[in-house]
Amino acid sequence: MENYQAWAQETLEKVREKMEWVSEKNRDRIPYTTDAQGNYDDRSDGSSQWTVDNGLNWWTNGFWGGIMWLMYQDTKDERYAEIARVSEKKLEKCFDDFYGLHHDVGFMYLPTAVADYKLTGNEDGKRLGMHAANLLAGRFNPVGGFIRAWNRTGEDDNTGWAIVDCMMNISLLYWASEESGDPRFGQIARMHADTVLENFIRPDGSVCHIVEFNPETGSMVKSYGGQGYGEGSSWTRGQGWAVYGFANSYKNTGKKEYLDAAKRVAHYCMANLPESGIIPVDFRQPAEPAWEDSCGACVIACGLLEIAEHVPELEKNMYIGAAVKILKAIARNRADWGEDCDAIVQNCSAAYHSNYHHITMVYADYFFIEALYKLVGEGISIW
Ligand code: GLY
Repeated sequence: MENYQAWAQETLEKVREKMEWVSEKNRDRIPYTTDAQGNYDDRSDGSSQWTVDNGLNWWTNGFWGGIMWLMYQDTKDERYAEIARVSEKKLEKCFDDFYGLHHDVGFMYLPTAVADYKLTGNEDGKRLGMHAANLLAGRFNPVGGFIRAWNRTGEDDNTGWAIVDCMMNISLLYWASEESGDPRFGQIARMHADTVLENFIRPDGSVCHIVEFNPETGSMVKSYGGQGYGEGSSWTRGQGWAVYGFANSYKNTGKKEYLDAAKRVAHYCMANLPESGIIPVDFRQPAEPAWEDSCGACVIACGLLEIAEHVPELEKNMYIGAAVKILKAIARNRADWGEDCDAIVQNCSAAYHSNYHHITMVYADYFFIEALYKLVGEGISIW
């Protein structure tokens, strides 16, 4: 355990080596996943093999830029800032077609525009971040106290839907309040977090993915399994969004209930962590097929490390130890350090019932790298 920082430094050295050529090869793209030859796709030009939501507004389009900013803060190599700003410039165009944007503007603009502003003082980054924060605040349903997740597509009426993932997006609102001096953004973030605390976290510490509220009265209607196995299950990436999201809400507000919530979900995750450290798509999925989600694993690890920042010395090691176990399992058994694949982290699953399992996902690499920087105490505060 005491060697975890040395281990993280060694692993970061491998990340630096790999990102040097991967970044150059993909400098004009915004990737999501790799094809059968291991080449990254491009979500920013419509050429992706993926048929659903593959445009510029795709929710993960902030993570490639985010990786570049993580590498920049470490190496101070201007090349990484240049590549990150390719993403930022492209994402500015999303505001022209804002019907395609939804609550995931936090995931899109925090690791890109806002990171740029925080690291370099670039006023363009601040402008984009504030614009995105206004869009996010505009999705708030005051009677239900929640931020609406998605937009209506087809027949499904999701006007009253909120999802646990949004716990990450609301960091954009905390930032906007601090930056502008206007408390409204932070107030919305807290009200949303309070609603999630009351309606998503079960007494045993597990979390549901989607909750539907009546958008006229605000009353809770029902919950859905969403990207997990089914109603009453616990989608691991969603557990991660709750652990990390509540820990971040505590960091941004100092409200103790949020830290307690993060710890409760973390304890549930740690109790269900397989001996191998390899994380399934859903902690309550059947034994077969044994679908994994390394991306959920990396998000949970980041959340555990964030909790460790805010607890007394006596408690820290438990959270750091669990995070290191997860990250070592990825680095040893689910990482590609060679030149055959642009992505590092392997065996990710978008959802339990998706047709695509054990693929690469750019945000798995993002959270893996962010977790390593957290371990060595060098990360910038994106969330
Ligand atoms: N935010 C959607 C996902 O984690 O897949």
